[in-house]
Amino acid sequence: MAHQPSPAKIMEIGSGFFASKILLTAVNFQLFTILEEKGSLRAKEVRAILKLNCSDRHLYDFLDVLASFGFLNRKGLLETATYSNSIDTATFLDKAKPSYIGGILEMMNNRLYRFWDTLGDGLTTGLAQNEVKEGGEPVFETLYKNPLLLKGFVNAMTGMQVGNFMALAQSFDFSKYKTFLDAGGSAGVLSLLVATHQPHMTCTTLDLPPVEPIANETIQQYQLEDRVKAVSGDFFAKDLPKADVVAMGNILHDWNEENKLKLIKKAYDALPVGGAFIAIEAIIDNERKQNAFGMMMSLNMLIETGDGFDYSFDDFCSWTKQVGFKSTELLSLTGPTSAAIAYK
Ligand SMILES: C[S@@+](CC[C@H](N)C(=O)[O-])C[C@H]1O[C@@H](n2cnc3c(N)ncnc32)[C@H](O)[C@@H]1O
Repeated sequence: MAHQPSPAKIMEIGSGFFASKILLTAVNFQLFTILEEKGSLRAKEVRAILKLNCSDRHLYDFLDVLASFGFLNRKGLLETATYSNSIDTATFLDKAKPSYIGGILEMMNNRLYRFWDTLGDGLTTGLAQNEVKEGGEPVFETLYKNPLLLKGFVNAMTGMQVGNFMALAQSFDFSKYKTFLDAGGSAGVLSLLVATHQPHMTCTTLDLPPVEPIANETIQQYQLEDRVKAVSGDFFAKDLPKADVVAMGNILHDWNEENKLKLIKKAYDALPVGGAFIAIEAIIDNERKQNAFGMMMSLNMLIETGDGFDYSFDDFCSWTKQVGFKSTELLSLTGPTSAAIAYK
């Protein structure tokens, strides 16, 4: 049957920011963390704890729409209603749990939401739309000068990637290898998960100097100081430490093609013959039809960096071949993210 015209999808996507902002606001209020601590709450208790002054109707709207999205469970209606977390929000949005992924949502609320307001300017000018536009420095310099922004960014990165890191640590065949380097490894979580799931592996996480203390803290929390170490360095200025496997999670997409090639070459030079380079990103499908998130992430790189962009597996194969890698494969991780792997 021919597709009948319908405004439904247009309206759903067009008003998508309503839904997004409702969830981001609930995360910023730490609503899910509070609900987890208390078990369940009535609307008037939520009002008191969060010090809200809106009308009862708007409070019910806020909580009930979260329930209709599947983020809260609700028993009763309006005055008699009690609210508790769904299994997803209890697991991933309770700040007290290590499985908390809200860091990325906090950053979306506190930074990206307002920067995306000028996506049109980004497309028109080709320039970044973040702090740089307000006279600030490029993204990493801006974030790393302010300890709160730095911590927020590191938490955001962990939140976004932890499921993928877990999947990679469990599903990639590490049996032929002994040493692992995560370049731009942020808090070091990928190295820690590889060390946890692959007890024969020794791992190094490398990032800019301000990140090292945060990575060291995480390593101590996992009690894996014997097999995971954090080092500081600029991956453009210096050669990468040698390792059998070199990973870069959401690194290549930060940069333009010239810098992507430089980083791939650095990985190549750090590997032995047979070694593996793994890029963990929202790799766009070759036909550019399916992975909408990958294309949106690429536009997010326009907002954040101006010339960084996400790419397809075909792009990855062509760049790694240029640098000298022998073969490639694609390993699906979670949701829109995959590991693009090149073997030397
Ligand atoms: C988008 S984050 C990705 C973090 C992590 N790999 C992940 O998958 O979530 C990019 C990382 O690259 C690091 N970085 C940026 N420029 C760098 C440089 N010149 N040398 C080393 N690390 C750098 C940043 O500090 C940040 O941790």
